[in-house]
Amino acid sequence: MAGVHVSTTINGDPVEFVCQPAEVLLDVLRNRVGLTGAKEGCGTGDCGACSVTLDGRLVCACLVLGAEADGRAITTVEGLASGGRLHPLQEKFIEHAALQCGVCTPGFLVAAKALLDRNPDPTVEQIRYALAGNLCRCTGYDKIVRAVQAAAAELATDAAQAGKSGKSKKTRKQTAA
Ligand code: FES
Ligand code: FES
Repeated sequence: MAGVHVSTTINGDPVEFVCQPAEVLLDVLRNRVGLTGAKEGCGTGDCGACSVTLDGRLVCACLVLGAEADGRAITTVEGLASGGRLHPLQEKFIEHAALQCGVCTPGFLVAAKALLDRNPDPTVEQIRYALAGNLCRCTGYDKIVRAVQAAAAELATDAAQAGKSGKSKKTRKQTAA
């Protein structure tokens, strides 16, 4: 069968690949692109281990065709760290012991990042609701929820500090003018 040529953006970088028409995005990411962070737990959309975002929307990569990624932007767990620093969610998962075997963890991180991008200050109920499609069989969910709360708090502090330093730069500029 003829392959499908796909041009996409993955974690900010342009990526092209050829896949079979019926090949799911999860297999493309893992087997063709070499990004093995997203995991296959069930392959049927039930566990969330394969979570990635497609144009900012959380999806199960096992339920999306690779060909559907054409012209779209994908973020995988590999795209969370930046500048050699783990994302606060990743740091807090470690600090709060929110993972054991880790098979579910990439999906939790991607789903939690999607939540905090649209709701930076979620309640416990909102966190549990947002992560309801992600199953973990090792840790229980309390540590995961605490890690997401802690990451939200850290991101809020970072944003407040960035806002302050932006303001003081502006003030210095205005004073100089
Ligand atoms: Fe995709 Fe389980 S592997 S939801
Ligand atoms: Fe093992 Fe979640 S840490 S399934």
